[in-house]
Amino acid sequence: MAADPRVQDILDRALADIAGARSTSALEQVRVRVLGRSGELTALLRGLGKVPAADRPRVGQEANEVKGRLEEALAVRQDALKTEEHRQTLAARHLDLTLPGRTSPVGAMHPIIRVQDEIISIFEGLGFSVAEGPEVESDYYNFAALNFPDDHPARDMQDTFHVSADTVLRTHTSPVQIRAMKAESPPVRIICPGKVFRHDITDATHSPMFHQVEGLAVDRHITMADLKGTLDLFAREMFGPRSRVRFRPSFFPFTEPSAEVDVLCFKCGGDGCRFCKQSGWIEILGSGMVHPNVLRNVGYDPEDVTGWAFGMGVERVAILKYEIDDIRLFFENDMRFLGQFASSAQGLP
Ligand code: PHE
Repeated sequence: MAADPRVQDILDRALADIAGARSTSALEQVRVRVLGRSGELTALLRGLGKVPAADRPRVGQEANEVKGRLEEALAVRQDALKTEEHRQTLAARHLDLTLPGRTSPVGAMHPIIRVQDEIISIFEGLGFSVAEGPEVESDYYNFAALNFPDDHPARDMQDTFHVSADTVLRTHTSPVQIRAMKAESPPVRIICPGKVFRHDITDATHSPMFHQVEGLAVDRHITMADLKGTLDLFAREMFGPRSRVRFRPSFFPFTEPSAEVDVLCFKCGGDGCRFCKQSGWIEILGSGMVHPNVLRNVGYDPEDVTGWAFGMGVERVAILKYEIDDIRLFFENDMRFLGQFASSAQGLP
């Protein structure tokens, strides 16, 4: 086509290379080689000044025509290669819809937290509100303000994890009573959930860390009858209408009189078995009328207000409610155990 041999040569080689390019990047290399800033044809067009004046218009025209043809050929080939490359990418990414799906495991609320929330919501329904306190507690809040004499055996190293001489891991949630009463004036109606720690040997019914929910009601004319009525109602809400509680005289430095409260054993229904140590009952909480010294310690007048308190073991309640016979199951993180609590409360007793 072109009369000029150099132009013709550039055209022939370029067309052959365009046709032979196997990828868009190979094609781009051809374009740069011929039409790029220092490409063969670009150089030729720039060097037109050196062509004899007589040939210059013709060579120039031919070179420009070739440039146009090559640009067109490049565009056509580019389209074809792009389509092909796209097709290959899609083929490589092909989804195998026959593979079985992967399900992600569904988390479950821990049974202790679930039972704790249930306890809280029963008391919230009775007008109590939630209060919390620190797990690392001073001797003052954990013992002294609760009317423990200095030489009381509960302060013994056997029971208490000491952080320092006057700092302990709280052994019960009762220090939250003191904190709450110091912060508010009566009437007080609080429920205090949390972890507590005791220097106990682990077995089926003991764990060095467990959970309690403390309850406290202080107002004018509060009596032990209110305590009994409240806990009786709690037991029926928590364990069903046939559940029964019993009060046994007991002792705590911070309550007078004091009582332990038991619920009918789930295993034997009260006949007596190994689980309830043949008694037919399982202890779930300690309780009593707030000691006048405790009321005085927080600046309340025991002549003016009275109150009751209880401290409930959440694990004990969960053990009864779900008929679990070993407290260690709660803390071993065995998914086969925890997974049973994955569904909502339905289906569970
Ligand atoms: N704090 C007591 C315990 O841990 C329980 C309790 C709380 C008893 C409130 C009476 C009143 O054993």
